[in-house]
Amino acid sequence: MDDSLPRTILLLGSGELGREFVICAKRLGCRVIAVDRYAGAPAMQVADTSAVIDMLDGAAIRRLVRAHAPDFVVPEIEAIRTEELLRLEAAGTSVIPSARAAHLTMNRDAIRSLAAEELGLPTARYAFADSSKELERVVIGNGKQSIGLPCVIKPIMSSSGKGQSIARTKADLARSWKWALAGMRGDTIRVIAEEFVRFDSEITLLTVKQRPHVGGTLFVRPIGHRQERGDYQESWMPHPMTAAAIRQAQRMAKRITDRIAGADGAGLFGVEFFLRGSEVIFSELSPRPHVTGMVTMVSQDLSEFDLHLRAILGLPIPRIDYRGPSASAVILAQRDSQGAPRYRGVAAALKTAGVEIRLFGKPSAHTHRRMGVALARAGSIARARQVAQAAARAVRLEGT
Ligand SMILES: Nc1ncnc2c1ncn2[C@@H]1O[C@H](COP(=O)(O)OP(=O)(O)OP(=O)(O)O)[C@@H](O)[C@H]1O
Ligand SMILES: [Mg+2]
Repeated sequence: MDDSLPRTILLLGSGELGREFVICAKRLGCRVIAVDRYAGAPAMQVADTSAVIDMLDGAAIRRLVRAHAPDFVVPEIEAIRTEELLRLEAAGTSVIPSARAAHLTMNRDAIRSLAAEELGLPTARYAFADSSKELERVVIGNGKQSIGLPCVIKPIMSSSGKGQSIARTKADLARSWKWALAGMRGDTIRVIAEEFVRFDSEITLLTVKQRPHVGGTLFVRPIGHRQERGDYQESWMPHPMTAAAIRQAQRMAKRITDRIAGADGAGLFGVEFFLRGSEVIFSELSPRPHVTGMVTMVSQDLSEFDLHLRAILGLPIPRIDYRGPSASAVILAQRDSQGAPRYRGVAAALKTAGVEIRLFGKPSAHTHRRMGVALARAGSIARARQVAQAAARAVRLEGT
């Protein structure tokens, strides 16, 4: 593979994770076209150029590829017309980590079926439903086969907990169905109902699949995280785990990433697991940097964005240097705001040593929208979490 620089990258999705990725790519002089469905998205702020399109429109993606002739198409979100990525890859464009990986992870049903049925990975029990009636049937009307209550209902296409709810009673199911429909992306009306897993903790295992001529699969130390409303609140690293549990998670991550990326596919994945006692239960994966991995911006020399970029470009990753216990905590909007909100309290947040703040500069806000993140390093994980959360709390948003 040609590893000369610079290369041209077409980034599909331009959120805060994309922005950090673009910063890394720009440091190596790459040219980046940042794409999203709205103008002024975080990655657009730092890219060479940008485009606003509906990424579920295959023809619009094709036009951009024709116009910019990118070396790599790098998906940053799930909601993309991935059939188009399959076509582009077949015609010779490199899709990261592979068009098949993007296609299989676009919807929850394909990747879950592959993980549980084809690979036999342990997962929460699950079923899919295409109507409210079917949802009721698979959760409570199927005898021993039923998922049972409580259960978690999610649209098959959504992220950051959108459209996700926990149903505890039969009456909740109809509400969950409506909520899923309201929060879904894409055009497939379908939900997954999952057994509610009473896990002790959950982790993301960042897994780096390198180009075959560069090296094998690498793993970052496990990242523990906490979610609310199915959405990311805070993460920390390293999450305490037994060596046996880490090995189990790594084995599963390698199997599924090898399967979906194929022999030549390369890039970083966020593989999510629930930990319950000594059990390691596969949950889902992103074929790209993961929001919980923002902690890697302070925990180590090569962040998840650097690792993704090196894997894509076929550059070596001889070692990752860890800097000690680290944490990150999100800064969320508390209410809707038409314009870009102002941030207050950053000076107060930065008074504590070891704290860093990232503000995403999104052009508008809505309640619970992710607007920034506080990062911290400290002597222990408990202390790092405390410091990151205090820093995140110190930053307040003011609407316009
Ligand atoms: N079956 C389950 N049992 C218990 N908790 C669950 C279950 N499924 C999801 N959750 C909780 O909800 C969170 C979000 O779920 P999941 O990762 O499937 O959704 P998501 O919207 O794709 O998230 P993201 O795209 O932000 O990673 C999980 O991290 C976990 O905390
Ligand atoms: Mg998730």
